[in-house]
Amino acid sequence: MVHSVSRRPELAGLPPLSKEERRRSKRLTETLAEEIDRCGGAVDFARFMELALYAPGLGYYTSEGPKLGAHGDFVTAPELGDLFARCLARQVVDVFDHVDGGSVLEAGAGSGRLAAGLLAELEKRERPPHRYQILEPSPALQARQRALLKNVVPQWSDRVEWLTAWPLDFRGVVVANELLDALPVRRFRVTESGIRWLGVAWDGTRFVETES
Ligand SMILES: C[S@@+](CC[C@H](N)C(=O)[O-])C[C@H]1O[C@@H](n2cnc3c(N)ncnc32)[C@H](O)[C@@H]1O
Repeated sequence: MVHSVSRRPELAGLPPLSKEERRRSKRLTETLAEEIDRCGGAVDFARFMELALYAPGLGYYTSEGPKLGAHGDFVTAPELGDLFARCLARQVVDVFDHVDGGSVLEAGAGSGRLAAGLLAELEKRERPPHRYQILEPSPALQARQRALLKNVVPQWSDRVEWLTAWPLDFRGVVVANELLDALPVRRFRVTESGIRWLGVAWDGTRFVETES
């Protein structure tokens, strides 16, 4: 069974794409279509989502663009002020009390606002982390985080580091806000005849949903 998926943002009430965004969208579409072809006509939804978000230089999180914030596509709690970071800092201190200090590891740090807010509040509470580690796959967001942290909490620069993989050894607090929905997922539908896996095919002009 196939269902069609609209490729025209204006039909969904979204702003029109810029020339560069159209170019990137076209290249990403070609990449996805090639992958679907290579896999025999359809890919699992998780693979589709993985490429759509992380194809090098083309995916949503691996390409340029503001993404979050007032000029981006969406706004998250840390972007609205420092209340969120200040509340979270209290819980970080609670955990530090139990494990005799430690580090903070933030996965998916967005613009860096949460990191800046946490470091500032932990400093105020005289409980700065040993290290503030960030796991961030987006080069554009990583650059934004570096600039913001250098600007807002330069005194903690030597404790902040960017990781390329989860550490094997860690003591402290792992934080992540609005991360899980950015991870590729498998989709399925429960029908009277059993569970149907959902995938994505390319019909030559648009992506279509498949069931198997
Ligand atoms: C919806 S944004 C949330 C950003 C920030 N936590 C906030 O609340 O404003 C998702 C973040 O997760 C990052 N991200 C996406 N996939 C990731 C992954 N596999 N591991 C770590 N971070 C990831 C994105 O680049 C982005 O920084």
